[in-house]
Amino acid sequence: MNAPEAGSGPADYHIEPAALGDLRAVYRLERVIFPLDAYSYFDLLLLLFWPGTVVLKYVAPDGALAGFAAGAPPRHDRYGWIITLGISPDHQRRGLGRRLLAACESQLDAACIRLTVRASNMPAIRLYEATGYQFVTRRPGYYRDGEAGLIMEKCLDDEPDQDR
Ligand SMILES: CC(C)(COP(=O)(O)OP(=O)(O)OC[C@H]1O[C@@H](n2cnc3c(N)ncnc32)[C@H](O)[C@@H]1OP(=O)(O)O)[C@@H](O)C(=O)NCCC(=O)NCCS
Repeated sequence: MNAPEAGSGPADYHIEPAALGDLRAVYRLERVIFPLDAYSYFDLLLLLFWPGTVVLKYVAPDGALAGFAAGAPPRHDRYGWIITLGISPDHQRRGLGRRLLAACESQLDAACIRLTVRASNMPAIRLYEATGYQFVTRRPGYYRDGEAGLIMEKCLDDEPDQDR
């Protein structure tokens, strides 16, 4: 992954639907940012083609993949789910994660959105708290290595006024 051009800001990046041609780059990114839980090629293929799933990518000024997110719309209940969200380490702390999350949420058309995050993943937990998610419950041993997962939720009515 290439380092971003000096001085480039969020406005120089753009969000697009991800497609089959992004599979290899998304797989590579997943393995960098989720060393313990990366989705397999097959999982990613399913995500890209599963009906109704929202799959978005963040494209850097040089055309490289800077981030990826996927979400599932409500099916038999009122909850949409953020399935995955990640920004390449070279492009983190520029406001991209916040923007990609918001784009994914807005396409889910859900009254409430839930997600699961590793209990130790403070950058992600801070992001979710800063964008209006609240702790719902803890799932001990949720991840393959035994770490607990935290379920967090945001309902449209709860949204804080801090869209920066
Ligand atoms: C979590 C992640 C998506 C954040 O992406 P990002 O583009 O760096 O985040 P942003 O720049 O939009 O930051 C938004 C807010 O999130 C919080 N945040 C992000 N990274 C943080 C960090 N390293 N430490 C503390 N807070 C952090 C802050 O509240 C930040 O707001 P601020 O910059 O005004 O302080 C990114 O760190 C990542 O891809 N991590 C690896 C994959 C992952 O854990 N995904 C989530 C799985 S549930």
